[in-house]
Amino acid sequence: MSNKRVLSGIQPTGNLHLGNYLGAIKNFVVMQNEFQCLFMLADYHALTVKTQPKTLKENILNTAASFLAAGLDTKKNIIFCQSKVSAHADLSWILNCIARVGWLNRMTQFKEKAGSNKEKASVGLYTYPVLMSADILVYKATHVPVGEDQKQHLELCRDIATKFNNDYDSNFFVIPEPIIPKFVARVMSLRDGTKKMSKSEESDLSRINLTDTRDQIIQKIKKAKTDNNPIDENIFDRNSSRYEAQNLIKIYSDLNSETHEKVLKDFNGKTFADFKKDLSDLLIEKLNPISDKIKQYRSDDKELMKILIAGSEKANEIAESTIREIKKIIGLL
Ligand code: TRP
Repeated sequence: MSNKRVLSGIQPTGNLHLGNYLGAIKNFVVMQNEFQCLFMLADYHALTVKTQPKTLKENILNTAASFLAAGLDTKKNIIFCQSKVSAHADLSWILNCIARVGWLNRMTQFKEKAGSNKEKASVGLYTYPVLMSADILVYKATHVPVGEDQKQHLELCRDIATKFNNDYDSNFFVIPEPIIPKFVARVMSLRDGTKKMSKSEESDLSRINLTDTRDQIIQKIKKAKTDNNPIDENIFDRNSSRYEAQNLIKIYSDLNSETHEKVLKDFNGKTFADFKKDLSDLLIEKLNPISDKIKQYRSDDKELMKILIAGSEKANEIAESTIREIKKIIGLL
């Protein structure tokens, strides 16, 4: 086991979908065999936009069940709930006093999420990247797997850690590095190949949820947008605008852990109607066992909560000791 320590988090804001699976969780399952890993349900982050208590609770339990069902193993890593480890909020406050307003003003995700009505956005949405920095730094994580949309937040985390080290003349914080996984997939909406697959897109036909049934998968793939041309080797050419075609090929190759080139070769000349049949079969083969396990875990919420509490206790031990050290460095009693 290397001495790298990896931390990552997913917000429990809805059912996990294929984009979360191929873009993050499938990779977590590989990393847990190589590094010390902490996988967090970022439930405090989920509060930055308005949520119903019942829905939030369901989402937390579903996300936890999905982590376990996808193959994350509590013997190999720490799976926990952010809100069960108060050191995240403690450190977040301290880091709020290190980060500069100018730095946060540059965060593009806040601008996108707050939209034209910044005055009405929650303060939490604004300081969200500071809490994310605390999540990482409280475990002195050396590596953070990040997708495109979180790169800027990790940069901010590095700036905050560096400023803390400079301000207090210490080298207390490890400056975390991004991990850009080899097989990282950016799965796009099934209705629009230029938009990311997302839990917030209105139409459920735009995404494959990990809990979708066999029939739902078949229906959604059948209805997925494509073009009328057959599959050929130029689909990924730089000047190609066959975005929906690219997306379906990417999904197939990532699910099967093979290259796009191989898939294009295997299906060369076939129509998308043919390809879609194979794609649905593959999705069913890979996702059905996961969806069955999600149901199993959700059939005993007490046991699921026990698993989360056990993980949170382990996380607490590390995080509490970091906070004690930090308080000493900055002069708190
Ligand atoms: N902000 C991340 C997202 O929305 C979730 C997250 C919270 C996270 N804390 C983190 C990711 C720490 C990596 C590390 O996807």
